[in-house]
Amino acid sequence: MADSPVSHHQGTSEQKPEKPEVSSEQKVQMEQAYQQMQRKIRINKLDEDIKHKIMVLSGKGGVGKSTVATGLALSLARMGKKVGIMDIDITGPNVPKMLGLEGTDLHVENGRIHPAIGAHGIKVISMAFLIEDPDKPVIWRGPIKLGAINQFIGDVEWGELDALIIDFPPGTSDEPLTVSQSLPTIDGVVIVTTPQEVALLDSRKSINFAKTISIPVIGVVENMSGYTLTGSTEPNIKLGINGPSGSMIETTSDSEGNWSITLDVFKSGGGADAAENLSVPFLGSLPFDPGIVRGGDDGVHRIIADPSGATAQAFDKIVEKVIETLEKPSSPTVRIS
Ligand SMILES: Nc1ncnc2c1ncn2[C@@H]1O[C@H](COP(=O)(O)OP(=O)(O)OP(=O)(O)O)[C@@H](O)[C@H]1O
Ligand SMILES: [Mg+2]
Repeated sequence: MADSPVSHHQGTSEQKPEKPEVSSEQKVQMEQAYQQMQRKIRINKLDEDIKHKIMVLSGKGGVGKSTVATGLALSLARMGKKVGIMDIDITGPNVPKMLGLEGTDLHVENGRIHPAIGAHGIKVISMAFLIEDPDKPVIWRGPIKLGAINQFIGDVEWGELDALIIDFPPGTSDEPLTVSQSLPTIDGVVIVTTPQEVALLDSRKSINFAKTISIPVIGVVENMSGYTLTGSTEPNIKLGINGPSGSMIETTSDSEGNWSITLDVFKSGGGADAAENLSVPFLGSLPFDPGIVRGGDDGVHRIIADPSGATAQAFDKIVEKVIETLEKPSSPTVRIS
């Protein structure tokens, strides 16, 4: 009688509470809610474990976001910082290729994804690791893309990091929005541009996008800003080269006969002008460097191939400015609800 499903109507103290009937659909919903809660807890923990999160955006494709994202990561790492890089570009993920990690199989343990480890110990997660045939286009619709991004954020074992750099596809698409909604705090956005007017116009869109989603703009990086030619001749000789705009560029060799001339392949100073117009900081310029293209193809980043070269030095200067901004007591980390 005590076990009767109606025993509670009789008011005895020994009765067991009636168990509510749970349908299999409700069970699935409860399981999903539990998983989501667990992921949320992990994301909050990840937010605490990773000191700074930096998004790299550009309005236009091919201006060098992935080059800048990998360069920032390597430059920070060789300064002794613990760094991760998350490549959110689903249709064209090329961070692993740039870091010589193409074809890496990710290690999964207890449902947690362990990032691949690149030069200077940087931790790398990319959609490229999940794509079986790199020649097949990836066509993922909104919700699947969103799920994959959330998994990247919530299910990866990043450990403690000083900085996580997040690389995106071009434009102000779903991806940065999803990341900004999933990660509780983001320090800011680095916007990459080239000196051409059209790229600059597009970067204005990125700046406005960052403002719309209330994430601070750390600053603008001007990529491919000038190509430096060097050579040697007799000491103190005047040389002239026909510049890209048709005007003569002159220089004089030094007392040892060395000379250098920087050609503004596109145009100079565009990034700095755009930053000033839009009242955001200018972080610096990166030279046009054919070694970057070679490095991208053979998987040895320019910073690794030529650690004291002009490109590596330019990255270090940009990183110093980024660190300065992030470590300011008034650093504008934004909490997104
Ligand atoms: N400073 C530079 N000097 C010379 N080549 C460069 C420089 N920066 C980038 N490149 C080259 O330009 C191409 C595009 O660069 P990258 O892939 O970094 O751009 P992206 O903005 O990430 O492109 P996407 O929009 O397709 O993601 C690559 O071949 C890269 O090697
Ligand atoms: Mg890219």
